[in-house]
Amino acid sequence: MKIALLGYGKMGREVEKIALEQEHSIVLIIDNENDWLEKGEFLKECDVAIEFTMPAIAIENIRRCFDANVPIVVGTTGWYDQFQEISDLCVSGNKTLFYSTNFSIGVNIFFDINRRLAALLEAYPMYSPAMVEIHHTQKLDAPSGTAITLANDIIAANSRFTKFTEADPGPGEIAIQSIREGNVPGTHTITWSSEIDQITITHEAKGRRGLAAGALMAAEWVQNKNGVFTMKDILNM
Ligand SMILES: NC(=O)c1ccc[n+]([C@@H]2O[C@H](COP(=O)([O-])OP(=O)(O)OC[C@H]3O[C@@H](n4cnc5c(N)ncnc54)[C@H](O)[C@@H]3O)[C@@H](O)[C@H]2O)c1
Repeated sequence: MKIALLGYGKMGREVEKIALEQEHSIVLIIDNENDWLEKGEFLKECDVAIEFTMPAIAIENIRRCFDANVPIVVGTTGWYDQFQEISDLCVSGNKTLFYSTNFSIGVNIFFDINRRLAALLEAYPMYSPAMVEIHHTQKLDAPSGTAITLANDIIAANSRFTKFTEADPGPGEIAIQSIREGNVPGTHTITWSSEIDQITITHEAKGRRGLAAGALMAAEWVQNKNGVFTMKDILNM
């Protein structure tokens, strides 16, 4: 594939490494607004764009890919308050958007375990969930997109919960604590506690490779498809 990298930070560079190992070509690298002015016109020659930038930037980059008719795989998190508008734009214009809060296969399996555990515990109100997510200090958004997905999945699977909170949880609320330290690539822990015991599930990323490999897998999968897709579509979960 001829790939455009939108964002050449930690994730963009990791995607580049794996793309080159897999003999794809990186034909365009955009890492700031000036790059867009200088070489943005080459976007339309790419088979796919892979976007890892910043919450405030992602929306504009998605629009640019729609305009250029280039499928876009978005890893940036923190822009989902505008998801519906972007999704409608994609569908009405016959464009291609693949998004995920987390491209790692392990995390997507963890999402499934989380949904099942939340559904199992619906019948046992003595158990209450709490989540802790830990990431490196440069991460801009909190809670992480992955933590928000996990919380929303609990809400969808267990009618006892209706929202998440970063404060002390009230009835029906799931507490999320975000910790920013060192160079941690991403750790998510959910604990369901009762007075007599607790059940804990954890996913701990050892690096960024799984995330970057998943984004590339998505970029290949999305070729010749129109619409809005996410990891569930690839993994049949
Ligand atoms: N979905 C996932 O699996 C996943 C995995 C890791 C990180 N993320 C998310 O991806 C995003 C990027 O993460 P990162 O660790 O690579 O961040 P980073 O800060 O290392 O890189 C972001 C890059 O975007 C560039 N940038 C700024 N403005 C731009 C513009 N207008 N156009 C193109 N590029 C521009 C910056 O120069 C920077 O190099 C964050 O939102 C992070 O939370 C998602």
